[in-house]
Amino acid sequence: MAQQPDYSDRPWLDPNATPFIRVQAITKKFGPFTAVDNVDLDIYRGELFCLLGGSGCGKTTLLRILAGFETPTIGTISIDGADMTSVPPYERPVNMMFQSYALFPHMTVERNVAYGLERDGIAKAEIAAQVNDMLSMVELTPFAKRKPHQLSGGQRQRVALARALVKRPKVLLLDEPLGALDKRLREQTQYELMNIQDRLGITFVVVTHDQEEAMTLSTRIAVMDVGRFVQIGTPTEIYEFPETRFVADFIGSTNMFEGRITENGADHVRVRAEEYEADFYIDHGMSIKEGTKVWVAVRPEKVEISKTAPPFGPNQLKGVVRDVGYLGNFSTYRVQLSNTRIVAVTHPNQRRPARGEHEVDWDDEVHLSWAASSAVVLTK
Ligand SMILES: Nc1ncnc2c1ncn2[C@@H]1O[C@H](COP(=O)(O)OP(=O)(O)OP(=O)(O)O)[C@@H](O)[C@H]1O
Ligand SMILES: [Mg+2]
Repeated sequence: MAQQPDYSDRPWLDPNATPFIRVQAITKKFGPFTAVDNVDLDIYRGELFCLLGGSGCGKTTLLRILAGFETPTIGTISIDGADMTSVPPYERPVNMMFQSYALFPHMTVERNVAYGLERDGIAKAEIAAQVNDMLSMVELTPFAKRKPHQLSGGQRQRVALARALVKRPKVLLLDEPLGALDKRLREQTQYELMNIQDRLGITFVVVTHDQEEAMTLSTRIAVMDVGRFVQIGTPTEIYEFPETRFVADFIGSTNMFEGRITENGADHVRVRAEEYEADFYIDHGMSIKEGTKVWVAVRPEKVEISKTAPPFGPNQLKGVVRDVGYLGNFSTYRVQLSNTRIVAVTHPNQRRPARGEHEVDWDDEVHLSWAASSAVVLTK
């Protein structure tokens, strides 16, 4: 008998899996302005799903609709099989941690965390046990008696997280949860979030405008632009196979070359980029007409840079190094082509350079090249 594939880490591929959160044809208008524009989304139990997009694209609005603080103009939402349309926020199996995490300033850390449980009329001893548990999980036990103004931004953020988690919601909505943290604490808290999520099995929907954060945290990412989803996929899919120039540009940096399809085989395409006097060969087929205008996108880390010419072939450009940046673990180069366009190249530093030595340096004439599998062809 054929073995069933294991979908436990990627339930969205399982044809038999039921989505935990179903967003169907949601539109939200504020007067004439459309903040969320006909969005469909399925999120599965235990996912850490990120909504990623620039400021004002509708991330918070969509999260507030999930929480029930905002009523959609059109569309439906169901969670765990139940229609949420007419269910008020406090009766949804959902908790939300707000962009400004709104702690009660006059209450201690432990009272802030206990508040939701007290309102539910849970016995005092039980509340104390759960609050202790939660404070130790976010490493705030020594701060239990402090008030919010006596904490750092990162500690306050962890109080807000503990407060949101203590009621063990089925779904936790987090709006820019790490926004106030410095880089180091941010990275540490990212891993804590992933750990907590793993341990409690809660489904997380996280809003962020930080693409690195989304890449680190998520099972899947929805990239948003002006109220719409432009692509939904795993971090790898979004990074390696962006579907549009917007996504390629928004996630990481990329070099984009405009050209036209000259050959369209079953397992490859060729692109002529007249402006660069270059031919590109990409080793995957696509259903596309010859002559179609496309963009070939190549990530800076996939571009080889060398002072010696590679063997004759496609996917090659020549230029002059205009800028070298040494960033410790890697170096960046900005290479100017004869048509004045700049190509960005990053190169890992595996061995320590001798003082003042760079293999490739300012004003060097260099050859750029990449493998046939390294570029993607975008049609829009
Ligand atoms: N109550 C409201 N009335 C009118 N317009 C609103 C309202 N709430 C949000 N908007 C508008 O809807 C759009 C989306 O807002 P939203 O808060 O969802 O953005 P966001 O993606 O969370 O942005 P940011 O990253 O800056 O937090 C914005 O243009 C905003 O001005
Ligand atoms: Mg927002």
